[in-house]
Amino acid sequence: MTRFNNRYVLVTGAGSGIGAAIAHEFAREGAFVYVVDIDVERAEDVAGQIKNAGGQALEVQADVTDGPSVKAAIEAIKAHSGKLDIIVNNAGMNVRTDLRHMTDEEWDLVLQVNLVGGARFARDGFELLKNSDHAAIVNLASVMATRSTRQMSAYSSTKAAMASLSRGLAVEYAPFNIRVNYLCPGFVATNLTSRFVRNPVVKEQILNRTPMGRFGEPEEIAKAALFLASDDASYMTGSGITVDGGMMAAL
Ligand SMILES: NC(=O)c1ccc[n+]([C@@H]2O[C@H](COP(=O)([O-])OP(=O)(O)OC[C@H]3O[C@@H](n4cnc5c(N)ncnc54)[C@H](O)[C@@H]3O)[C@@H](O)[C@H]2O)c1
Repeated sequence: MTRFNNRYVLVTGAGSGIGAAIAHEFAREGAFVYVVDIDVERAEDVAGQIKNAGGQALEVQADVTDGPSVKAAIEAIKAHSGKLDIIVNNAGMNVRTDLRHMTDEEWDLVLQVNLVGGARFARDGFELLKNSDHAAIVNLASVMATRSTRQMSAYSSTKAAMASLSRGLAVEYAPFNIRVNYLCPGFVATNLTSRFVRNPVVKEQILNRTPMGRFGEPEEIAKAALFLASDDASYMTGSGITVDGGMMAAL
């Protein structure tokens, strides 16, 4: 398939997990992928794997919590191709602790990575996106945007805000033909969730609450991200898709 031939895609947090799968899927469907991560070695690995498989990619080191770093990443893309059609704001993290024990620094980090970083790329990438005939932004929220569990207050509030940011930007960017949507994945086994997955009791609890009885695969989230970014979703903006094995449908 070549749905994304001649399209330039930036994926943040693309050095591992869901972001890496999204980068691979875009490349497989013909896109040039800017593999953005704070961890440059991970970004190089993923870009290298894409190129070894015959795709096109370039690693770009950037810390989404740092304004100048995000601006430098966009400048690097301007200098490289001068083109950007799609941004996937995927970088995310969690500090899992009860809110009453959380420091200001921890709060700020979760907020910066999960929300403000995406807003920075949406802002600084705007000039490039507005020159595209197929512009789209896909933001990673979570089922935690509308639910929560112990020690997840900060994480879930940033994910709710990510959904809200997506709706706000959808309205703001619609006159420029830039669509903005978001994804709400359920549980996917990645570095982010390895603590849950390794704990047999917690793992059992999660699987019991997932009607399909298994974790999602990063590729299953990636396919939904590609749909939202594709022309197949040409009349969708400000919307979210839940990809959770039925978790949100169950009591
Ligand atoms: N795994 C899940 O079950 C799940 C469920 C719902 C939503 N999500 C969301 O999906 C996204 C990807 O999660 P994942 O599970 O693949 O996580 P992951 O930990 O495997 O990957 C996150 C990537 O983001 C990068 N990153 C972290 N901080 C960064 C920063 N400041 N600047 C740039 N890059 C940074 C990391 O280096 C890493 O490569 C996140 O937004 C997460 O909240 C994940």
